[in-house]
Amino acid sequence: MLVYRFRIWVLLLLVIFPDPSLSHFDSAKKMQMREKVRKMFYHAYENYMTHAFPHDELKPLSRSFTDSLSELGNLKLEHLPQDYNGTALTLIESLSSLVILGNCTEFERAVLWLSENLTFDVDARVNLFECNIRVLGGLVSAHILATDSTNRLVQGSYKNQLLVLAEDLGRRFLPAFDTPTGLPYAWINLKYGVMKNETTETSTSGCGSLILEMGALSRLTGDPRYESAALRALRKLWSMRSSLNLLGTTLDMETGEWIEHSSGIGAGVDSFYEYLFKAHILFGKEDFWRMFHSAYLAVQKYFRHGPWYHEADMRTGKATYWQLTSLQAFWPGLQATANTSHREFVYVWKKFGVLPERYLLDHQMLHPTEKYYPLRPELAESTFYLYQATKDPWYMEVGETIVNSLNSYTKVEGGFASIRDVTTMQTEDHMHSFFLAETCKYLYLLFDDSFLVDRNYIFTTEGHPLPVLSAWQERLPEIYIPSNWTYVKDEKQTKRSSAMSLQVCPALSLNAGHGEQLVESACHVPDARSDHKCFSDEECGVDSASCRRRSCSMAGYCGLWLVV
Ligand SMILES: *[C@@H]1O[C@H](CO)[C@@H](O)[C@H](O)[C@H]1NC(C)=O
Ligand SMILES: *[C@@H]1O[C@H](CO)[C@@H](O)[C@H](O)[C@H]1NC(C)=O
Ligand SMILES: *[C@@H]1O[C@H](CO)[C@@H](O)[C@H](O)[C@H]1NC(C)=O
Ligand SMILES: *[C@@H]1O[C@H](CO)[C@@H](O)[C@H](O)[C@H]1NC(C)=O
Ligand SMILES: *[C@@H]1O[C@H](CO)[C@@H](O)[C@H](O)[C@H]1NC(C)=O
Ligand SMILES: *[C@@H]1O[C@H](CO)[C@@H](O)[C@H](O)[C@H]1NC(C)=O
Repeated sequence: MLVYRFRIWVLLLLVIFPDPSLSHFDSAKKMQMREKVRKMFYHAYENYMTHAFPHDELKPLSRSFTDSLSELGNLKLEHLPQDYNGTALTLIESLSSLVILGNCTEFERAVLWLSENLTFDVDARVNLFECNIRVLGGLVSAHILATDSTNRLVQGSYKNQLLVLAEDLGRRFLPAFDTPTGLPYAWINLKYGVMKNETTETSTSGCGSLILEMGALSRLTGDPRYESAALRALRKLWSMRSSLNLLGTTLDMETGEWIEHSSGIGAGVDSFYEYLFKAHILFGKEDFWRMFHSAYLAVQKYFRHGPWYHEADMRTGKATYWQLTSLQAFWPGLQATANTSHREFVYVWKKFGVLPERYLLDHQMLHPTEKYYPLRPELAESTFYLYQATKDPWYMEVGETIVNSLNSYTKVEGGFASIRDVTTMQTEDHMHSFFLAETCKYLYLLFDDSFLVDRNYIFTTEGHPLPVLSAWQERLPEIYIPSNWTYVKDEKQTKRSSAMSLQVCPALSLNAGHGEQLVESACHVPDARSDHKCFSDEECGVDSASCRRRSCSMAGYCGLWLVV
């Protein structure tokens, strides 16, 4: 079974710094956990290489493969290719993880194979968004890592092969954007372009989360078409927002009209918000920040209910659906209430052993059908970011819980299997490529972030790192770097200007200007208990920054409400 899956992000905008509490996480324990994650990665990777490569994804129970790139996002499994043998999707998705794990020989072997054997000239209809974040993002990121001299790759063996592949793929995307509105078709045939009678229905994520990969491709190749196409689509999408600054979930790209007016921060929309913010970091454009900021404030205003987020109608702001979807697990890193929301997700994770796809907030129960857990990375990702922002060892314990659950419920002899039903822990014969691209990567980085020392990366929604370079920020978009541009070590990287280092709190920046840090204010009243636990709102104090009362969440924790 395939899930229409939109990717998730976490931003690291943490403003609360706890007293690092006592924890059993000393450096020996950290190393032990890191080794556990490394073993997970190789168990998954080697099984893929043995039983599935060069097909797209591994079927870990039957130890076979599935050519699933063309199935991603294709709920009804329509127009599947007749003669398609995969594009080594999971290998492409593993490239940046191999570098982060320090396996340069395997990385080089993979690059050689891809440069000799990979072709995108295949008669397969693929989802533009999925292909962009997984394949284009995987190639562009790996190209940058391959040209970074600090990665100890054999010098001289790399001749921009990945960039050549990425550019070929990018060119195949362009016909999708050749539309009256500039909004792209959701589907493209890699060989033949947009199919006749192709559906005009697409989603907010599908139109609004292309800018990082396509922008990076333009910067690397000097060909502005990719970035321009993605930017034009993003601008058009933004122009379709309601007077409340909300967007819907699905739309008609030909007419530019909304189809589904209800939206939230989960499936169909999530990475739109993420990419506005990350595009601001990567390309330094004020535009992106302004869009993100308005959108963020609207989310906090209309979707938020305590630590949870529900969906609302973009026209009226009225709540529509009350449910937690696992994709939302990225949001905690975004705002000041992060720890509270994050704890709610951990609470649900612990309740079920893993995170179910959908959880009904009003009934505090599982969604009747969406009980699966497809090895998604979002909670691991939030946990990694929150640890980076706070250095609170509690997050390592959460990471340990996640690692142990994955090993006890999802590990099988032939890899790692998705969970079909979290109430029975019945497994399913599929290992998504994002398990290697993201889940394993974020868990590894949680316990060993040496890859990030002295470097400044953002991670795409698929977990592929892109460096924050001053060269990409200071130059005007029209001025492109020559195509033989390679990563130069002393290319001055923008000084620690990631969200993590800025500790930006968008909710506050309305008055304070972004970059401002939270300061304890006079109105602060501490919670009754220092561990922030509670039975009722009365036990929760007043938040220092907003001067608002905190309240007691479902999981029994006091929350900071910074609703604007
Ligand atoms: C987050 O919550 C955990 C669990 O209650 C707590 O131990 C930790 O100190 C909290 N961290 C922050 C940043 O408030
Ligand atoms: C896919 O594999 C089958 C079986 O090996 C082969 O007959 C076919 O030519 C391949 N198709 C392509 C497009 O490579
Ligand atoms: C690199 O990956 C290969 C293939 O999985 C493995 O055999 C090898 O041991 C790895 N090398 C290191 C240094 O981890
Ligand atoms: C490309 O594929 C062929 C056929 O599977 C294989 O023999 C060859 O070694 C591959 N090239 C590289 C560089 O691995
Ligand atoms: C496209 O749709 C129209 C109307 O439904 C139909 O008449 C036509 O045959 C279709 N064309 C193709 C190539 O499927
Ligand atoms: C790199 O590109 C520039 C401009 O296109 C060109 O002048 C230069 O000779 C190229 N350098 C190499 C090493 O190819």
